[in-house]
Order: sequence, then structure tokens, then C-alpha cells
Amino acid sequence: MAKINQNVVILGTGGTIAGTAASSADHTGYTAAQIGVEQLMSAIAGLPAALQGRGLITEQVAQIDSKDMDFATMARLATRCAHWLSREEVSAVVVTHGTDTLEETAWFLQCVLPAQLLAAKPVVLTCAMRPATSSEADGPRNVCDAVRVALSAQARGVLAVCAGDVHSALQVQKVHSHALNAFSSGDAGPIAQVVGESVVFNALQEAIYKENLAAGQWNIAGAAIKYIVSTVHWPRVELLLNHSQASGAVVHALLADSAQPVRGLVVAGTGNGSLSVDLEHALVDAQSHGVRVLRASRCAWGGVSATVNDRLPGTTLSAVKARVQMVLELLHDTELSPAPEN
Ligand code: SIN
Repeated sequence: MAKINQNVVILGTGGTIAGTAASSADHTGYTAAQIGVEQLMSAIAGLPAALQGRGLITEQVAQIDSKDMDFATMARLATRCAHWLSREEVSAVVVTHGTDTLEETAWFLQCVLPAQLLAAKPVVLTCAMRPATSSEADGPRNVCDAVRVALSAQARGVLAVCAGDVHSALQVQKVHSHALNAFSSGDAGPIAQVVGESVVFNALQEAIYKENLAAGQWNIAGAAIKYIVSTVHWPRVELLLNHSQASGAVVHALLADSAQPVRGLVVAGTGNGSLSVDLEHALVDAQSHGVRVLRASRCAWGGVSATVNDRLPGTTLSAVKARVQMVLELLHDTELSPAPEN
């Protein structure tokens, strides 16, 4: 009989953490996604201690630079997470991922993985800013930290670990292009920190997170996990930016593109989601023609708060997470809408 919670599963998807450079002194001129997850884990001296007697199962789900992440790969990763989380001999899943789009994948997983699975066991994403061949690689410590977080009693939901900080999928954002501590949770602060061999949770953040998790607040796509596997045509949602002299030209061009019709537009507005007159006009027009439109903020933190003058809805999510969520919502609505009668 399988022993309960005796294994940690590490799913590899590529990224700098699996990258190689020609020289160990080279921290930047490398190629991401070169080393398989099994080989990568076997080279981490501290991993057996971090596993605290648990067995290790590795699986290569993808091998990509995360700038090339797509919904099909995210969906495959989600189904592998769901598979392993539902097995009683598995206590947690860790995912190695590129830093560049880690927050989008984290949010996708948080949205589609069944709430009851995430309320029982965590999925912890981790990464590195330096390649595996670097003499000062940060990946090994991040993996060990992620495993310690995954095995800690309080860890639930989708979390991200980098440079000793633990972030919730909701808050995590990459905020630095080359610092080892490249991620932030903004005003909220990290949900926990890894201090030596211990994981210290921020009590307030943890309480809010668990309350939302228990309410299934982020399981927005409901039964999404069931149908994302078979999805071939993901709804097209494009991301726009407001800036000085922004016009509606990009919106018009997108709507005129009939190759794959645009179903949604997320715009990273200035400040509290404000838009130039011309861009707002084009977006209101798009909305009146059935395109879903959502305003995020191009500011790193704060999101958009509703005002009486709003002509378009706003969100507190970052623009890239709002896009992921809109794709899932459109997919969900399509799946639920009755088939047209003949
Ligand atoms: C990637 O995101 O796959 C490359 C960059 C990184 O992991 O830091």
C-alpha cells in the first residue's frame, strides 16, 4: 500500500534554473531550459536534507524559456499538478519555472486547480536568476527553500519562492530584471520567509490567504481543469498600454484582424487605470461590439479602484494576471453556453 504523504513531486518546465552558460563565471550570457529536472535535482547537495526523509519524484512537463510559455503548456502543467496532488502518497508539488512569466503561470494554476486540492496541499513554484552552471547559482537554494515551504504545515494554495521570500500567487510579481531577489508582493509583503531551515509565515497575510482559499475565491474557472486539457483554440485576449499620446489605432487594427477574432482586451492604464480620450473611445466602441474589456493599472501596485466616472470596468489584478483570468473566464463562458440549435 502507498505510504501517505511520503513524496514530494518536482515538475520541471525549464527557465534559467535549468540554463547553461559556456563558463561558470557567466551569470547572464546563458541559454535557458537546457538541463533536465532529474539531473538538476541530483546535483543539489542540500536537497536530501530539505526533503526530511521524503522521497522525490521528478517529471519533465516542459523545457522552455518562460518568455515562450503558452496556455497549452500551462494547461498540461495544471493537469500534472492535479494528478499528483490527488495522490495520497504525495504531500506537495514543486514546479521549477523561468522567472519571466512565473506570475502568470502561478495565477493560472491558482485559478484552475480544484479548490479542495489546493486547500489540502500546496503547489510551490521556484526559479533562479542565474543559470545552473554559474559558480554562484541561486537555483539550488531556491529549490531547497521551495521544498521546505512545500513541506511546512501552513503551506496551502499556489505559492512562489525566490531568494528566501515566499509569495502568494495573487501578489507575486517580478519587479527586477537582474537582482537575485527579483520578486515582490508589494504593499502586502511576502506571505512567509525561509529563515535557515524554518519557514516563518506572516500571520495576518496567511490568515487572509487561507480565508480566501477556503472560500474558493480564486477558483474562478470552476470546473476549468476538466476542459482546459482538450482546449485547442484559446480565446484571444490582447494586452494594451496607455501612455502619453496613446491612440485607438492598435484597438482598431486588432478588431480588423479576422484571422483569429479578438475576444478580449486588457489595458494597463495610467495611474488608477486612466486612458487617453482616443484609446478610451476605441475601447468603449470595442466593448459595445461584444469584446470584453478590462482596465488594469500600469503601476506596479495598487490596481484600479472604481470611480463614478468609469466607462469601462477595472481590476485590482496586474495586467498580465488579468489577461490570464479573462482567457479562463471566456473559455468557461464558452463551455457553459448552450450549443446553438440547428
Ligand atoms: C525564463 O523566464 O525562462 C528565463 C529567465 C529566467 O528564468 O530568469
